[in-house]
Amino acid sequence: MHMTPQSTHMQRALELAASVQGATSPNPWVGCVLVSEGVIVGEGATQPVGGPHAEAVALAAAGERARGATAYVTLEPHNFHGRTPPCTDALIAAGVAVVHVAMLDPNPEVSGKGVEQLRAVGIEVRIGDGGAEAAKLVEAYVKHRATGLPFVTVKFAATLDGKIAASSGDSRWVGGDEARAWSQTHRTTIDAIMCGVNNVILDDPQLTARPAGVTTERQPLRIVADSRGRTPLDAKVLGPGGKTLIATTEASPTDWRRDVEARGAEVALLAADDAGRVDLRALMTLLGKRGVLSLLIEGGGVLHASFFAAGLVDKVRAIIAPKIIGGTAYPAVGGPGVARMADAITLRDLEIVSLGTNVAFVGYPERS
Ligand SMILES: NC(=O)c1ccc[n+]([C@@H]2O[C@H](COP(=O)([O-])OP(=O)(O)OC[C@H]3O[C@@H](n4cnc5c(N)ncnc54)[C@H](OP(=O)(O)O)[C@@H]3O)[C@@H](O)[C@H]2O)c1
Repeated sequence: MHMTPQSTHMQRALELAASVQGATSPNPWVGCVLVSEGVIVGEGATQPVGGPHAEAVALAAAGERARGATAYVTLEPHNFHGRTPPCTDALIAAGVAVVHVAMLDPNPEVSGKGVEQLRAVGIEVRIGDGGAEAAKLVEAYVKHRATGLPFVTVKFAATLDGKIAASSGDSRWVGGDEARAWSQTHRTTIDAIMCGVNNVILDDPQLTARPAGVTTERQPLRIVADSRGRTPLDAKVLGPGGKTLIATTEASPTDWRRDVEARGAEVALLAADDAGRVDLRALMTLLGKRGVLSLLIEGGGVLHASFFAAGLVDKVRAIIAPKIIGGTAYPAVGGPGVARMADAITLRDLEIVSLGTNVAFVGYPERS
């Protein structure tokens, strides 16, 4: 779907919001631009939790020039006292005359109330400029506020014949340099990253965000689905680089759980599903309660299959590399598969990204 915002000022506000995507979690990432007589007099993006929101940053930059100005905000300003004072109060106090809001807050408890408060004091409020882009940008926040669950993205790099590793389990590397850089940059925008325990045993990933040329302090929570306690104690995921949560069941040895905790990781003891594996819905509920808005699943195919079977996948980021492995081991998505093409999962609102000799397909899974 091609979406064009109606105004260049809202476009700028969306760029500001995108520049802090995920960094403000569990708060939404918002951008704000203040315009007076056609000139931008202040702009800002939401700061990490506890810091000022986009409107406050833009108002501080504009100072007295905010009086009579038009504000472009990517999400409805909030009117409640949270960790920061209400943004509606700040806009009113500064004397802003017109407010363009790209979308209402999806949180049912506050939706529409910020707009109401602004209108009540005579501020002109217009809703919907850049609305589709804004909703897509904060899709993880929208899902979390609507369901209490994280927005789940499955990501893999596969060969032309759909394999994510060679027959020995070796997967370094399926994708090319540009594809890996693209994936690393994306990791900086998410709250948590997860893989199955086979991936830890075969590949020993660090599961950190390491975008080239950038130092990132904010690291996603690293999660391993490990029902029986097979994560080796010297696994890199238990080492430095970020916080780690091992999702397990009663089937894992108590001693192993204690040893994992002694390495600084958290052990979440969860219900088992019918196959005796970590119950993914229970895990999603736990993560949602902790304010994890976005979760990235990075392999392997066995875990991907469980997420698809549970209907828990919101988005797919599939990199396809021009290589062929052959054989039957390590498909991108395992499980029994569907019997008829008509039952295949199709990605809608597809975005196709060219990454050197690789191609990435990004879209939202839908069963016909
Ligand atoms: N190219 C890529 O993008 C990419 C990315 C990642 C991995 N890989 C490759 O993929 C291979 C590993 O993949 P894999 O498919 O064999 O295994 P996997 O998905 O990494 O791990 C599956 C294991 O996770 C555990 N698990 C716990 N709860 C689960 C649940 N609810 N559903 C499913 N599994 C659950 C199960 O072991 P227990 O029953 O013991 O808990 C299961 O056998 C490696 O060779 C790795 O290099 C490639």
